[in-house]
Amino acid sequence: MTKNGTSPRPANTLAMAGDNTYNENSGQQYLAMEASLPLFDDLSFGRDATFVDYGCSQGAASMAVMQRLVSRLPPYSTASVVFNDLPSNDFNSLIKLLPSISPLDPTITVYPCISPNSFYNSVAPACTVDVAFALSSIHWLRQVPPPKSAEESFEEYLRKRNTRNAAASHQDLVEFLNLRGREVKPGGKLIVAAPSPCADDIDGRISGNEKLRCALFKAMDILIAAGKLPANATAGVYPPNHVHTERSFRAAVTETGAMWTIEKVYSKVIPHPAYQSMLESRSIKEDTKIRNALREQYAGIVMDWMLAVFKPFMRTWWMEQGLEEGVCEQVFQECSEQAKVEFVKSGGAELPVAQDFVFVRLNRS
Ligand SMILES: C[S@@+](CC[C@H](N)C(=O)[O-])C[C@H]1O[C@@H](n2cnc3c(N)ncnc32)[C@H](O)[C@@H]1O
Repeated sequence: MTKNGTSPRPANTLAMAGDNTYNENSGQQYLAMEASLPLFDDLSFGRDATFVDYGCSQGAASMAVMQRLVSRLPPYSTASVVFNDLPSNDFNSLIKLLPSISPLDPTITVYPCISPNSFYNSVAPACTVDVAFALSSIHWLRQVPPPKSAEESFEEYLRKRNTRNAAASHQDLVEFLNLRGREVKPGGKLIVAAPSPCADDIDGRISGNEKLRCALFKAMDILIAAGKLPANATAGVYPPNHVHTERSFRAAVTETGAMWTIEKVYSKVIPHPAYQSMLESRSIKEDTKIRNALREQYAGIVMDWMLAVFKPFMRTWWMEQGLEEGVCEQVFQECSEQAKVEFVKSGGAELPVAQDFVFVRLNRS
């Protein structure tokens, strides 16, 4: 039991959808990585350097950053490049990408290392890391929050989620910063690209984000009504993450005392790259058939993007609720197709799917 009499929550152990699915559907996270690159630009290192990516997933974004870092090393250097993620991560897909780290200078030797461990544990020996980075990953909570209650609608649950998870998210970020503070050398850097709350409907921008989530939950409701999913199939499928703001980030940094100083910080909206095809579909007004086809294509891409993150959580929860493993993949595919239809029906395919991000570079004091 915890201090307030509730049962301790289980740790999150689930990574992204495997078999390279995340790599194939993470174009938006790749753009977030590109937007973080200015933070790596003016770094310099000695001859032996260690770079660690915390929450690397299947490596598409990670490789681009590692390649940039090793290219900045002086001649005759060695670089340890460490890829950290949960043990359930599909590291096989990442390993296949390792040859893409290839320093232009042949005197530089690169030693790749896989680190299957939660970043809420110690991941590297004390004072060994020159550059730590975490792209689209520190918003993952250590523990799985309680599932949606039966009385709540999905919209209500979404609205309350932020408030409910704020304290855990703050504690987790402080813990992450303290752990990295032990691992990063004095003068070393921690670079973070953290998803922020989408300013949906607040600052005049209207995104398709909420419609995307609602379409998925509508699809699950349809499959529940058809008897293909267990009655409680939607309650625990939401991934355990919580977005950060510049303010919440600064609050966590302050709590780590003098360990870190913020060197650079900026925010950006990162649209899903399929937004471009959505814009094209808008401009083709006269041909309804083409317009509809483009809308469906856009719906397919952005739904697959979201499902590359949601899938492991959906499958695991459904099986815990009694769905047989043998039919799980087929039901998942049906759900995915239905969700794409619902997204188009709701008008979501007319709207950009986008995510606000806060980008931060910290110096280890
Ligand atoms: C949205 S993906 C981002 C992957 C990659 N950095 C990118 O930019 O595309 C988040 C990653 O964080 C990982 N993750 C979540 N919680 C973690 C933890 N406690 N320890 C290590 N990795 C974690 C997930 O498994 C997932 O691979």
